[in-house]
Amino acid sequence: MIRVKIRLGLVVAFGLSAAQGPAQDLSKLPYVPTPQVVVDQMLKLANVTANDFVVDLGSGDGRMIISAAKTFKASGLGVDIDPKLVELSNKEAKAQGVEQRVKFIEQDMFKADLSKATVVTLYVLPDFMEKLRPKLIAELRPGARIVAHDYYMTEWHPDRHIELTVPEKKAANGTDKAYLYLWVVPSRIGGDWCMNFAFGAGKPQWIVLSFNQQYQMVAAAAETVIGPLPIESPAIKGDEIDFFLTHGAAKFRFSGKVYGDKLEGAAVSASSPKPVPWRAHKVPADRKCVLR
Ligand SMILES: C[S@@+](CC[C@H](N)C(=O)[O-])C[C@H]1O[C@@H](n2cnc3c(N)ncnc32)[C@H](O)[C@@H]1O
Repeated sequence: MIRVKIRLGLVVAFGLSAAQGPAQDLSKLPYVPTPQVVVDQMLKLANVTANDFVVDLGSGDGRMIISAAKTFKASGLGVDIDPKLVELSNKEAKAQGVEQRVKFIEQDMFKADLSKATVVTLYVLPDFMEKLRPKLIAELRPGARIVAHDYYMTEWHPDRHIELTVPEKKAANGTDKAYLYLWVVPSRIGGDWCMNFAFGAGKPQWIVLSFNQQYQMVAAAAETVIGPLPIESPAIKGDEIDFFLTHGAAKFRFSGKVYGDKLEGAAVSASSPKPVPWRAHKVPADRKCVLR
């Protein structure tokens, strides 16, 4: 209900009748600025630092990227289809002394280069969010953060969301609420991985780990030569992986990182609190992990 209200509020703010609904010509979206207090919270939610390269898709007057540079010392790129807003943003970047680290270009957001982005910021209508989803998941590197104002992606659930009360939104949006959504781009771990590991004082054995992934949601199974092993709570956050394997009476927690087609980390259990290194390699789709 709240979401419907906001959607209508923003649609009204964008100068459309509610009856038109949010179905839009996806080449253009009206300019409605994000209030500065919301900009600051979005950059905080994405944990922006001087190491980040922030891309604002549909950058308006440039406030998101200029704030990222001024307040958090980040670098960035703003992409907007309106040449006047691009010109205004580049002028403002100069006036604020951040023109060495930020740039604004006239471009369709669907064609923007995201290869350098570690953070993407968005204030776009739901149709744009949905249409951007495949581009974001395909082009952003694992660990990159996406933060959006008021709108979310339906299939890709946010990792976090927060609600703010922002009185200055009331006039333009018909609501004083701002909803912020954060996604962390996960590494792709779907498929089989072959791991050799010695549980406690036992001999090393081969284990096939099978992950079924949809965005950051993961289901897992583990199999040894003598049968399945219980695997619980598989999780992927950026390039960090975590799961529990139970062997006999002992439950081991495996934590590690994804390095392309390798997983590496350390495992601990109540009886073996000293971290034991573990590694796994991705099994190509046309091969099998040979259990022995
Ligand atoms: C709702 S405003 C958001 C402005 C800014 N990101 C902010 O949060 O203050 C959306 C912006 O997207 C721009 N825009 C609309 N369609 C676009 C497209 N296809 N590619 C790039 N920019 C677009 C508009 O000119 C407008 O400045």
